This record gives sequence, structure tokens and C-alpha cells, in this order.
Amino acid sequence: MKVKTLVEFIIERQSDFPYATGELTRLLSDISIAAKVVNREVNKAGLVDILGAEGSENIQGEEQQKLDVFANTQFIEALNAGGEVCGIASEELDDFIGLDGKVSRNGKYVVLIDPLDGSSNIDVNVSIGTIFSIYRRISFTGSATLEDFLQKGHEQVASGYVIYGSSTMLVYTTGHGVNGFTLDPSIGEFCLSHANITIPESGNIYSINEGNYVHFPDGVKKYIKYCQEADSPTNRPYTSRYIGSLVADFHRNMLKGGIYIYPETAKSPKGKLRLLYECNPLAFIAEQAGGKASNGFKRIMEVDPKELHQRCPLYIGSRLMVEDVEKFLEASRESAGLAQS
Ligand code: AHG
Ligand code: MN
Ligand code: MN
Repeated sequence: MKVKTLVEFIIERQSDFPYATGELTRLLSDISIAAKVVNREVNKAGLVDILGAEGSENIQGEEQQKLDVFANTQFIEALNAGGEVCGIASEELDDFIGLDGKVSRNGKYVVLIDPLDGSSNIDVNVSIGTIFSIYRRISFTGSATLEDFLQKGHEQVASGYVIYGSSTMLVYTTGHGVNGFTLDPSIGEFCLSHANITIPESGNIYSINEGNYVHFPDGVKKYIKYCQEADSPTNRPYTSRYIGSLVADFHRNMLKGGIYIYPETAKSPKGKLRLLYECNPLAFIAEQAGGKASNGFKRIMEVDPKELHQRCPLYIGSRLMVEDVEKFLEASRESAGLAQS
């Protein structure tokens, strides 16, 4: 059987875009090359002295690991050299980078990226990932402006993630379904392994950091109790699975059916995850696979971004499960409203 590589696949699909000039194809290919370099370092992480904290903190006040910095540099260099993007925003950078080289200042696209997701798992050989989101610029020329990055999620032209797991996969969408490619290390190519991925409309996995239970909104507490009740027609109690790497938790739930929740808490009233380079790109994938992504009130991809590193609660995965938790949230908001009046 002939394998289909990622680059062959995206070239074939180029005709999905009228007037396509191949720039998006080259951009996705640049990302996949940087991902291979990051993958090589992730695999070596146990062998070389690359583990441990870099000693600096990122804008969120979180400790950066060396591989975060390495991954950030790899993606930025690959995108910069490619010339298809006029700006890049990253979890690891306070502000966006406007590219104003001769070639890139006329790039049509901007990229937002979480270069290494789940970085607390690097030291312990547990799956980590990369998440990316691509928009067409709205400024006309020169390097990117902030407005190019602050677009709603439904304006994304492509998004995807790489999971560095027991095997390494790249999964992406351009709004025409979701496809997954597994890296064959013997030939160094991402090969089509999961064509046209769909999320089961329901499942029996729930993924949430239950250690924060006391800080959760009432509706989430009730939904967790619902997940734990015995009820054979609905296949409950559900199974709890939480890796602590959003990419890995999302990927498993997408293939098996499940829901991932990172709600607002008393500690973090806006949640923990970042709208532009964590929630939106995965929301695009989830919807394209037939699933759903909500902030508890509305569709993630309709949230209006106000700042680059904006946080957002996330309820994502199988459609019926996301709808269930939304009902619990709505009911407890209503009863809180009634109690107040
Ligand atoms: P990052 O490593 O990019 O900072 O992201 C970590 C995120 C996400 O991957 C994960 O699901 C979540 O943080 C875990 O947070 P808790 O440890 O609070 O559960
Ligand atoms: Mn992350
Ligand atoms: Mn990260």
C-alpha cells in the first residue's frame, strides 16, 4: 500500500481553496518541519541535559522549561524563514512578533502558537503537544498589527496540533474535516493514518482536574456528580481520565468520545487556558470533527478576543456531553438568580 505523506495530502487539498497560491500549503509544511525538529528533542529529553527549568518565567508567571524555549524558537524560525506569515504570537512571548523582512512583510497569514503544551509533563516522559492557529491578515501590508491576531475563532483558516506521545501525530483542519498523520520515524514523514476523524457524539470519559473541585462553579460540581452516578442506559458512571496536557486529553477524547473541562474557578475566574492559542484552535478541530466547544455560555469560536493572552473557560469534546454540562451550568445560574431575587 502506498503511504500518503502530509505534504502530498495538503497539496492535493489545495483545490479546496479557490485562488489558492500554495502559501497555506507551504505554511503548514513549515510547521510540520519544525514539529519534526521539536519531536527529535522531545525524544532526546531523557538523554541530554535539556530537562529542568530554564530559570525564567513567561508572561503568565509560569516557570518555563528549556524545551518550551527550544520549541518556541524552532517554530518562529521556521515561520520566519518561510515568508508566508507577517506575524507570530506565542504563549512564550509577551507581545507578538511582526515580521518585516522583504518577503514576510507581505505574508498573507498570522500564526498563534502554544509551542509546548503540557510542559509540566516534560520531565516525566508523559505526552505533550504543540497547538497552532492560522488567520488571514486583516491589515493590508507591512508587518502584522494586533488586530490581525484578535480575530474571532470562526475566522481561522486552519488550526491543528502535534502530539508527542507513544507515537507522534499531527492533526489539522482547514475547515474541510479533520485529518491525522502519524510520524514514521524510519522515513521522517508524517503519513496519513486517521482520515476524516469524527468525534463520537457521546462518550464515557470526563477529563477535569478534580483537585480543584472546591473552587468549581456549582453547575460543574453537579455535572461531575452526574458523571459519577450509576445509570446503565447512559453508560454511567463515566471514566475519569486526566493527563494534564490539554492536547493529549483532547486527542484521546476525540478518538474515544469524551469531554474535557477547564472551568472558571474561584482562583482563576476566567479559567486557565488561553483563548487564542489553546481554546480556539482545538474548538475549530472539535467542530470540524462533529464535536462542540463552549465557554459555558456560548460557542468558543464566537468569543470576542480583547487581548493576546486572554484566558477562557473550556468545555470541549463530544457534542451531547458538552450540551449536558451546559444544561447543568444554565440550571445553576438560573437557581442562583432566583435565590438572589
Ligand atoms: P502549558 O504547558 O502550555 O502552559 O499548558 C498547560 C495547560 C494544559 O495543557 C493542561 O490541560 C492544563 O494546563 C493543566 O492545568 P492543571 O495543572 O491546572 O490541571
Ligand atoms: Mn498549553
Ligand atoms: Mn505551553
